[in-house]
Amino acid sequence: MIELAHVSKIYGKKQNKFTALEGINVVIESGATVAIVGKSGSGKSTLMHVMSGLDRVTSGTVTIDGHDISMLKKKALDSFRAQKIGFIFQAFFVQANETSVQNVSLPLEIAGVSGRKRKDLVNTALEQVDLTDKANSKARNLSGGQKQRLAIARAIVNKPSIIFADEPTGNLDSATGDKVEKLLFSFNKKLGSTLVVVTHDEDLAKKCDQQIYLKDGKIVKIVGKKGGRK
Ligand SMILES: Nc1ncnc2c1ncn2[C@@H]1O[C@H](COP(=O)(O)OP(=O)(O)O)[C@@H](O)[C@H]1O
Ligand SMILES: [Mg+2]
Repeated sequence: MIELAHVSKIYGKKQNKFTALEGINVVIESGATVAIVGKSGSGKSTLMHVMSGLDRVTSGTVTIDGHDISMLKKKALDSFRAQKIGFIFQAFFVQANETSVQNVSLPLEIAGVSGRKRKDLVNTALEQVDLTDKANSKARNLSGGQKQRLAIARAIVNKPSIIFADEPTGNLDSATGDKVEKLLFSFNKKLGSTLVVVTHDEDLAKKCDQQIYLKDGKIVKIVGKKGGRK
């Protein structure tokens, strides 16, 4: 379960202060699929960043599975994220000069998984996103959709309990976007991973159990059932 209580996020200092989030209270059940929806600049990415520990709140608390992550020091937070969370971004963020295998291995190397086990996990992840035939290709030679599937393989190779995806289909044509979307929901079903997806695509949002609508850094409404494991 992810729980945010009285969360605010202020960027900048003094006269440059900008309140990106204010008075955020939200509970996301384990295993649920949740969309964060809102116009550009409404605070969606900021909310995802503080929810996942990529960035710090200015005030309030973020609790993930009973751990108050606002209290964790940097190193502890990094390792907490590496164990529990997978990230997917709009801009893919794969290492262009590394192969698919190398890209997907990275989080396992950080987590200290041994060579033999790493190989098995990487192969399984590449299989799941249908990129086995591109295992030894450099990422720069993959198409946009393939790069995003590679990013997904890297996000799920650790079998994370939560997947955060920030506009994961934003840079893809609609047919490719549909495939990526299906893949994300399939991990929610297969692994039981909680899926939190930032999007301004209403159709994608509606496929989630719950939709959180943001406007000017505030939640204006939450629609749908809580979802999650029964
Ligand atoms: N690092 C930052 N420093 C200052 N302002 C920021 C920073 N990141 C985001 N913002 C501002 O916070 C607001 C929300 O941004 P963001 O969360 O990226 O919105 P969204 O993802 O909904 O488009 C925007 O007005 C943006 O300009
Ligand atoms: Mg954004």
